[in-house]
Amino acid sequence: MKEIVPSPPPVVRNDAAAVQALFQQYIVPSYGRFPIVLSHGAGSYLFDVTGNRYLDLGGGIAVSSLGHAHPAITEALVEQSRKIMHCSNFYYHEPQGRLAAGLAKHLGQGKFFFCNSGGEANEGLFKLARRFGHDEGRFEILTTLNSFHGRTLAGISATGQEKVRKGFGPMVSGFRQVPFNDLEAMRVAISPATVAILVEGVQGEGGITPATPEYLLGLRQLCDEKKMLLLMDSVQCGHFRTGRFQSWQRILESVGQAFQPAGSGDFPVPRASELENSANRQTGMSAPQSFLPDAISMAKALGAGFPIGAFWVRAPYADLLNAGSHGTTYGGSPLACAVALKVLEVIERERLDKNARELGELLKTGLQRLAAQYPGVISTVRGLGLMLGFELAPNIPNLPGDPAKSQAVRFLNLLHAAGVLAIPAGTNVIRLLPPLNLRRSEAEEGLRIVAAIVAKLVG
Ligand SMILES: Cc1ncc(COP(=O)(O)O)c(C=O)c1O
Repeated sequence: MKEIVPSPPPVVRNDAAAVQALFQQYIVPSYGRFPIVLSHGAGSYLFDVTGNRYLDLGGGIAVSSLGHAHPAITEALVEQSRKIMHCSNFYYHEPQGRLAAGLAKHLGQGKFFFCNSGGEANEGLFKLARRFGHDEGRFEILTTLNSFHGRTLAGISATGQEKVRKGFGPMVSGFRQVPFNDLEAMRVAISPATVAILVEGVQGEGGITPATPEYLLGLRQLCDEKKMLLLMDSVQCGHFRTGRFQSWQRILESVGQAFQPAGSGDFPVPRASELENSANRQTGMSAPQSFLPDAISMAKALGAGFPIGAFWVRAPYADLLNAGSHGTTYGGSPLACAVALKVLEVIERERLDKNARELGELLKTGLQRLAAQYPGVISTVRGLGLMLGFELAPNIPNLPGDPAKSQAVRFLNLLHAAGVLAIPAGTNVIRLLPPLNLRRSEAEEGLRIVAAIVAKLVG
């Protein structure tokens, strides 16, 4: 590999100001950015152009599942690009089929559609639902408050946060929001036009809020009763981040085994009859082990930094989007699929699901200890595996920085100065979404740095 991909130089020119000037002149200012100009990374660390090193606990918003410059990923990229990077979906190619088969091991019977981003994957779910309800005139999709489903026009129409919609009306019709984790609110909201429910297993942008097991099971039952599709947005919480392939598999562990597909040693092969039953049942779920959504959107960690999205559709609905009904030029390219397949192989081989669970526990326990010790700084800690959030107490008196900026941004500035990257959620929550191959020593380093900042804020 060495001769193909030389390591980046450890020290690079201090041209932060010049890079920022280019952005000011040529880049649409749709993002609020921190004044950090990144240069390269290695494992869980990132380096800026001035030579500062950061422990990356944000993972590029849950994307960099194998950290940075992972040699196996670089090699997969280079190898595949030597063969074929792109071909149109008029043709077949091996990496797309193999990736679908590899992912399918972790779910029940169903099929995949590959695209390029989470927003695009959700668009696919919306079209699937509309197709499903079309002949009966049903089209409405119920979503939840504080959800996030992407920045496309339909994505912001589905999202339960006013701030993403502001100034872009009118919205795409056919979406309505109800409170999250409130089954009764969902039941009451169903109209004759409702065709599907869409939820995140763990709300990410909304501040790291996991669905309760009762809620998920109740939604499944509701959808079965009312002949609606249960759609899950796993863009942020999926792909082993919570310690299982899908967040609901982790969430439902507490009430008995969640649906356990074939794949790893832990997963018994689902019987076809089970799938049949669950596919045809209209009258509710009796056991959590039967739980499966009807369709799932995925992206982010799937490609570990290479853009790829996907949605999976459960068997009885897998052929609804038939030839000519949906497509995207780059979707499931040989290059993207070869990389995603390698990512999956590394995660499985190195049991990074277990790592996410164990280090997630370490981080969560450490943060909870801090919250107990310093309730004036951290009010709550939430999350599963390596999808964690801590909420800052309101009005932390010693928090430095421009009071016009949110507490989350001001806290992040302190983290950056101390050499840690993390991600804000709303105005008051700090999210940790680190690489799934984070090391114990790195998790401990992160905790130590957060603890030092928190202790100082108490004064
Ligand atoms: C739950 C969820 N859905 C959808 C999206 C949109 O994904 P993308 O930014 O890849 O379009 C995101 C992005 O943060 C997300 O967190």
